[in-house]
Amino acid sequence: MMGTVVLKGLVLVILGCLLPAVLVQCRIRHYKFNVVLKNHTRLCSTKEIVTVNGKYPGPTLVAREDDTVLVKVVNHVKYNLTIHWHGIRQIRTGWSDGPSYITQCPIQPGQTYTYNFTLTGQRGTLWYHAHILWLRATVHGAIVILPKLGVPYPFPKPHKEAVVVLGEWWKSDVEAVINEALKSGLAPNVSDAHTINGFPGPVKNCNSQELFNLSVRPGKKYMLRIVNAALNEELFFKIAGHQLTVVEVDATYVKPFKTDTIVISPGQTTNVILETNKFAGKYLVVVSPFMDAPIAVDNATGLATLHYATSNRSTTLATTLTAPPPINATQISDSFTKSLKALNSNKFPALVPQTVDHSLFFTVGLGVNPCSTCVNGSRVVAAINNVTFVMPTISLLQAHYFNIKGVFTADFPANPPTPFNYTGNQVTNVATTTGTRVYKLPYNATVQLILQDTAMLTPENHPFHLHGFNFFVVGRGVGNYNPNTDPKKFNLVDPVERNTIGVPSGGWTAIRFRADNPGVWFLHCHLEIHTTWGLKMAFLVDNGKGPNQSIIPPPTDFPKC
Ligand code: C2O
Repeated sequence: MMGTVVLKGLVLVILGCLLPAVLVQCRIRHYKFNVVLKNHTRLCSTKEIVTVNGKYPGPTLVAREDDTVLVKVVNHVKYNLTIHWHGIRQIRTGWSDGPSYITQCPIQPGQTYTYNFTLTGQRGTLWYHAHILWLRATVHGAIVILPKLGVPYPFPKPHKEAVVVLGEWWKSDVEAVINEALKSGLAPNVSDAHTINGFPGPVKNCNSQELFNLSVRPGKKYMLRIVNAALNEELFFKIAGHQLTVVEVDATYVKPFKTDTIVISPGQTTNVILETNKFAGKYLVVVSPFMDAPIAVDNATGLATLHYATSNRSTTLATTLTAPPPINATQISDSFTKSLKALNSNKFPALVPQTVDHSLFFTVGLGVNPCSTCVNGSRVVAAINNVTFVMPTISLLQAHYFNIKGVFTADFPANPPTPFNYTGNQVTNVATTTGTRVYKLPYNATVQLILQDTAMLTPENHPFHLHGFNFFVVGRGVGNYNPNTDPKKFNLVDPVERNTIGVPSGGWTAIRFRADNPGVWFLHCHLEIHTTWGLKMAFLVDNGKGPNQSIIPPPTDFPKC
């Protein structure tokens, strides 16, 4: 039975790709990811890190819209492993989404799994990362989805393109950092450096030339595909003496606008056009953290250079400097976020749901639960609607698909169990409840979700990521969301479409999406420490009618728990 299904699937893939090949250039792209340990030297010290094919960041995966991508992942390390293709919709192919224990059991040491997905209706920059433990600190890379052959960008074609992956580097072993924090119940150590394509730039007390350089020619347009692969930090990005034109975020086109500073949260991607309108010289590129709450962050500035290749190589040029914005520059962050609007052209319309079938209100924030073995007798946790999510031991998608009872309950609360003044300064910390609870949606339902930050412990900006969908960011505000007045101000015409959005410190964000992808889809804060602490839940979207609206069967090499 299984054999016939697989055979039929194969025939369909072959027919689907070969027959119209001349017309639609349908292609299958093969990649092999060997996940291996590798020695890397940063900040003048060497340590072993987990990498894809020995590289940090990992190799860039390049494909075209409509391509089918097959990535054979071989796990050569001692950790259980999964890879998530962040932002790829995975329509009906949840088995290839990658979050451990949500859509799959991990690939165990020595095992192999081939992720198989099609890039339907998407083009732009996305990225992949390990989705288990804190391995994504070093197991990550960019995904470049080119438009279909012959289809231009909706902006002038850049002379060249470059991938710019921003990351965080710890001197010590990252798994040790989080394990130590979980044991104590306290926050983990912050990173020691911010990296740009793997290099932090010159750092104090270290003479090595750890600098990424982007070499350009004058009078051209370059497209930078910027990815924030940091674990826990929202970042500012700027280049001395140059403005940047934002054209795309999270693989959706936006109305172009100019800015000198990009704000990018963990999980997000941003494409900008850089005009090389100087004649010569070197210009500093800076990456620094944004944090407008009383939370410790790594305040090191990552540095790189933009170098005009025309400059006479024999002369040593001074670098044109620039200072990063203040760490708590809420204003810069706000105005950047407000400038983002969907392109909403005839070719790329913003299909914002105009009506709402499921209206949800989720509080997102921290909490404190008792812990007898922890340092203070308590541990910091995080929760959505007061539920601290507990990871199951087999994946939710398997439990759903094979109807295995006792793994989760479909009773995730649509509203906070007890309403309170969420962002007031007299918020008292209450213990959270724990559970593996999902929210069930019928196929094609429209959803409005208000994500409301709370002041429990402290308000803080939470970059929320939804798997399996893009959503529209229809509203945003400070303080408590007001269901009577705030919806009147929603943008239902050209709101930005993306897969990860920051809930502002002590404020709220409203998103809308259509549940047109059957499966189990993770929603979580993309600050890895908050995910670890339980700031996560999942949506279960039922099959619709017929095979085109149903989850495909799992592949034969699907990992076992
Ligand atoms: Cu980029 Cu669930 O993650």
